[in-house]
Amino acid sequence: MYVRPAAAAAAAFLGFTLTVLGGTAAPAATGPGAPAGTTGVLGPVVYAHRGASAYAPENTLEAVDRARRLGFDWVENDVQRTRDGELVVIHDDTLARTTDVEQVFPDRRPWRVRDFTAAEIGRLDAGSWFGPRFAGARVPTLREYMERVQENQQRLLLEIKKPELYPGIEAQTLELLEKTGWLDESHVSQRLVVQSFSADCVRIVHGLRPDLVTAFLGTPAVADLPRYAEFTDRINPWHTTISADWVTAVHGLLGAHGKAMEVDTWIVDDAATARKVRDMGVDGIITNAPDVVQNAVIGF
Ligand code: G3P
Ligand code: CA
Repeated sequence: MYVRPAAAAAAAFLGFTLTVLGGTAAPAATGPGAPAGTTGVLGPVVYAHRGASAYAPENTLEAVDRARRLGFDWVENDVQRTRDGELVVIHDDTLARTTDVEQVFPDRRPWRVRDFTAAEIGRLDAGSWFGPRFAGARVPTLREYMERVQENQQRLLLEIKKPELYPGIEAQTLELLEKTGWLDESHVSQRLVVQSFSADCVRIVHGLRPDLVTAFLGTPAVADLPRYAEFTDRINPWHTTISADWVTAVHGLLGAHGKAMEVDTWIVDDAATARKVRDMGVDGIITNAPDVVQNAVIGF
């Protein structure tokens, strides 16, 4: 059982305090400066997946702001690249599901992100599909996104999405992070994690910036974990694929920074599943509904 009574008592106090102060829901977030294998004092660190995407259109600045208003500092996003080389924040490799691209550019099927310029994407409505009150929300450029997360004093779990479609996106992403001030010591040690489903991508990021915390998205077999530990710090699996034994196996390895590897699981949006993965010992939970998960794992 992963519940820690002292932490739960602290949580009741801190939850109140943080709400009053407008602070974060997971103040002791993990990072290279944090003890290996640690969680926030409130239990697993809670990450707002694509922003607070249960309440605002995913991967928009509105979703980032919504996470902030709910009291969550860690947000997750997805980074891809336009035809003219701009990094943008969007999950799918086409624009169809989350924008009005089919109306604005009816002749541009299949509406791939990489077939549109940043200016064209900037014209699209990325909010109406979610709800009329979000009409006018945009697909943010990564620069705009980083500026907003910085302004909000939040932290970022940045996913490089489908890197095989975008040669060189790892170096380009790091260059943008550098330009926006996100690769200084304070950001790297406390406020930034880079992840990908591509092991090659994670390995490249680690090679370019060995100081960065990275995560591999997936559930490698226990026997394969030592190979991942050579270049990454975390293994981030889909919650249906894990067990307490598997989490323990990950924790038993030292990652790329010489600390126990961590596990942040996704996408957990209900209280029962949140408690289940907490009890497996995960370090973090990535969720569209961070308030639901936070309330579940701290027990009130
Ligand atoms: O952060 C984990 C999660 O985002 C991975 O899945 O498809 O939502 O990017 P996906
Ligand atoms: Ca993602």
